[in-house]
Amino acid sequence: MASITGALILAAGKGTRMHSDKPKVLQSILGEPMLRFVYDALEPLFGGNLWTVIGHKADMVREAFKGEDHRFVVQERQLGTGHALQSAWDELKAAGLDRVVVVNGDTPLLPTSTVATFLKEAMDADVAFMTLTLPDPGAYGRVVRHNRRVVAIVEAKDYDETLYGPEPDEINAGIYCLRMDAVEKLLPRLTNANKSGEYYITDLVGLAVAERMDVIGVECGQDPNLLGVNDPAELIRSEALVRARIALNWIEKRVLIHAPETVRISPRAVLEPGAEIYGPCEIYGASRIARAAVVHSHCWLRDAVVAEGATVHPFSHVEKAEIGPDCVVGPYARLRPGAVMEEGARVGNFVEMKKARLGKGAKANHLTYLGDAEVGPGANIGAGTITCNYDGVHKHKTVIGEGAFIGSNSALVAPVTIGAGSLVGAGSVITKDVPDDSLAIARGRQTTLPRRRNS
Ligand code: UD1
Ligand code: CA
Repeated sequence: MASITGALILAAGKGTRMHSDKPKVLQSILGEPMLRFVYDALEPLFGGNLWTVIGHKADMVREAFKGEDHRFVVQERQLGTGHALQSAWDELKAAGLDRVVVVNGDTPLLPTSTVATFLKEAMDADVAFMTLTLPDPGAYGRVVRHNRRVVAIVEAKDYDETLYGPEPDEINAGIYCLRMDAVEKLLPRLTNANKSGEYYITDLVGLAVAERMDVIGVECGQDPNLLGVNDPAELIRSEALVRARIALNWIEKRVLIHAPETVRISPRAVLEPGAEIYGPCEIYGASRIARAAVVHSHCWLRDAVVAEGATVHPFSHVEKAEIGPDCVVGPYARLRPGAVMEEGARVGNFVEMKKARLGKGAKANHLTYLGDAEVGPGANIGAGTITCNYDGVHKHKTVIGEGAFIGSNSALVAPVTIGAGSLVGAGSVITKDVPDDSLAIARGRQTTLPRRRNS
């Protein structure tokens, strides 16, 4: 029978050094929680045999991955990485695993390929772990070897040269492969007799060596992808690395990215070959940018769809909105959730749309608010038009028919309908429905008198 290898992500810790209200694994890298990157790395290898130990603000972690299929195990009190493994052990056993790969949840850059290579090397060992050799080993656990053979991992703060010899620059990366049968006997023997008063997973190494088990430290050189994230500086360093990796990947897939060093793209975004992007800009969430679409500099997109041939001019802000084929947006446009532009529609400077649809070829080119609105094809919304959608309690809808023309500086007080082909005079305050093919003017008439001057 083939052996089953599963994976366990340790994500219950607080992340004290981040000084944040969020648990560390929810700290954002390119707009995504750090833990998402670990899932992306491990899912291709372990599929459903993947568990996550959560604890500190566990509900917040569940909420962040709501609607996704993840197996969580709760570590009620965060008594250390060894205790986290103990907390999950029964579930791992019940799943019939032969081996488990344990990964620190704060190692977001870990590539799938590195784990796959490690697995091959670890297959015959009872306990295997990845190591790095760093010029400045900082707070990492030190790998102690005698005659090249691993003896123990000793945490930096517990390191005692008189006991272990001169401090090594080889450190523990926090990624382990454990044979379940072997480790089962060692796990209850972990103690918290150390400077932190925690149960360390790393002590399994010394215990296994004492039992003459097969223990290996797989050397991964200086691979920066294996570095942990413990404080803001380390988060920024990791984010910079993954940002560059993602931008380069899209360039290799024939996306034209100008000034790529200033472009931030979410790992969930999808760009088509032939899309063109100018930095600096930020493309977050599950945004999609089609071929021949252009996103100019200083734009911020999240969960945005930019269809083929559309142009987004500089300084536009687009969230949960759809920009149809050949549309033109901005500069300085704001498309909020539920904004939809159909083919060839145009939205110009200082125009805001929210839960509003602009029909094919319709235009709102200047200084306009379209909220809870339905605008028919070919309609023209004059400068300064406002859909007054909110009465202080409820939101109401504005419907503007095909080919309608709304004169500048009009207020459309919803609920209201402007019929197809109708014209609203500039400066009107429209409170009643306007039938098709009509002219509505709702403003004070101009009076013109001779000018009076003193003296
Ligand atoms: C750990 C290792 C260290 C290694 C380093 C690599 C231990 C004792 N030390 O140190 O040898 O060099 O990672 O990055 O393991 N966690 C829990 N429950 C807990 C405590 C922690 O789930 O009770 C989780 C954290 O959320 C985190 C991971 O375990 O994702 C590692 O914990 P952390 O406190 O960051 O360990 P380090 O001090 O970095
Ligand atoms: Ca860490």
